[in-house]
Amino acid sequence: METLLAVKNLSVEVRSGTEGKRLLRDVSFELRKGSCLGILGESGSGKSLTCKSVMGLLGPEYRVSGTVAYKGRDLLSLRREEMRALRGSGIAMILQNPMTAFDPLLSIGSQMVETVRQHGPFSPAEARRRSLDALTLMGLRHPDDVFRQYAHQLSGGMLQRVMIGLALLLGPDLIIADEPTTALDTVTQDEILKEFDRVRRERRCSVLFISHDLGVLARIADDLLVMDRGEVIEQGDLRRICSAPRSRRTGHLFDTRLMLLDAFRKATTPREERSRHEEPLLAPAATGF
Ligand SMILES: Nc1ncnc2c1ncn2[C@@H]1O[C@H](COP(=O)(O)OP(=O)(O)OP(=O)(O)O)[C@@H](O)[C@H]1O
Ligand SMILES: [Mg+2]
Repeated sequence: METLLAVKNLSVEVRSGTEGKRLLRDVSFELRKGSCLGILGESGSGKSLTCKSVMGLLGPEYRVSGTVAYKGRDLLSLRREEMRALRGSGIAMILQNPMTAFDPLLSIGSQMVETVRQHGPFSPAEARRRSLDALTLMGLRHPDDVFRQYAHQLSGGMLQRVMIGLALLLGPDLIIADEPTTALDTVTQDEILKEFDRVRRERRCSVLFISHDLGVLARIADDLLVMDRGEVIEQGDLRRICSAPRSRRTGHLFDTRLMLLDAFRKATTPREERSRHEEPLLAPAATGF
């Protein structure tokens, strides 16, 4: 299958005082057309830095080296305006912190309409209709209200949904989504993931999906890249890695998640159910129940 994005030996250093501090070391991966690559890693492992450097979003204090080839063009050597032109219709990015993605002085609706019109020959009315449809599709119950509101009037989860809706609406070839569903409750997360997956399959767009949650990635990604302390420690077919991780650190990440799931199940299993399986910590008489 055709490669859409090829990242090779991507390294990032940040200047601190007179010395440079290495934050990413030789990150390499390929994203095939129409497929979804999940990036998994603990907090601080370098997931967001990887996306930001691919998108040219890091400030001048960072030194980025390596190559990022998108449809054969090296993104790292593009000028600011060229990169801006690519964002949106070519590559859409869903940021980890949705608040920073919106202008606080403009209504959500006017920002959506403006963005839609930048990417296609739509009349204001058509752009408005499409934007409202995208909000409805993202499960926002009162799209007209959201349309009129400003970023600070919406919750983090609502803003995330607006951002996902907008990204999908623009129909890009590549979506880079940095923890797009983290601020959502599990039911909403489930619905959004389904919608995300449907649109990506229909439009055959490629997705780089960042999450610290293997459960989320297992639902949407074909391949997996596992990061640890700024390096790639494992990559390949998601099912293969889940069943037989090659790195001990990956195994550790999976075990931690399983332990959490187990604790969660215990906490949510009704008391009577639980007591049939295990001894209660305190005898019922002692707790008064
Ligand atoms: N300007 C900077 N100076 C020093 N360290 C930095 C700088 N920018 C980023 N880092 C460090 O780089 C590492 C990777 O950060 P990054 O934001 O990519 O993590 P992440 O994997 O996205 O984590 P999270 O899951 O919490 O979002 C972190 O340890 C962070 O502290
Ligand atoms: Mg991050």
